[in-house]
Amino acid sequence: MSQAISGSRSLHRLIYASRQAFAPDMVADDEIDALIRASIRNNRLTSLTGLLLVHDGWFVQALEGPATAVMTTYQRILNDPRHTDSRVISAGPADAPEFGDWNMCARRFSPADDAILDTLAQKQAFDPATLSDKAALRLLKAVRGIQDRTALTA
Ligand SMILES: Cc1cc2nc3c(=O)[nH]c(=O)nc-3n(C[C@H](O)[C@H](O)[C@H](O)COP(=O)(O)O)c2cc1C
Repeated sequence: MSQAISGSRSLHRLIYASRQAFAPDMVADDEIDALIRASIRNNRLTSLTGLLLVHDGWFVQALEGPATAVMTTYQRILNDPRHTDSRVISAGPADAPEFGDWNMCARRFSPADDAILDTLAQKQAFDPATLSDKAALRLLKAVRGIQDRTALTA
């Protein structure tokens, strides 16, 4: 990791996928709302931006910002019991932010949106367990595109 980190202040991006793991007494929608609120609040303070995709029992998240902030935040997220089996898909320096408009933009897709996600994932079924680094970034950028258009018409 130290090799990939070119400086604590330069831009880094980390993408991971994890499985949602809500305890029986948790209401998933409420927990997701709460974690998004905390993310926006904390990420604003640490100059992080990113996107969180919530679908089919999965989280796929991009975090970008200063390397130290990205790694510190990811460590905290890793310890969060609301998900499990986190797999880092990519991590390293980035030329420019891809999700710079949002301290955290969250997008939920319902089961009815499966076809949209399959299309976004370039005709492969939505399966974060096997997403490559390129495919993951492509997917999150496609979701970003939807979000931009939705924001314009909202
Ligand atoms: C999938 C997932 C994504 C999260 N993303 C972020 C994030 O981007 N930034 C953040 O500060 N916390 C994030 N959290 C929440 C942290 O795990 C933790 O609950 C929170 O940072 C604690 O903040 P607080 O001490 O201000 O309540 C995420 C949690 C989960 C399960």
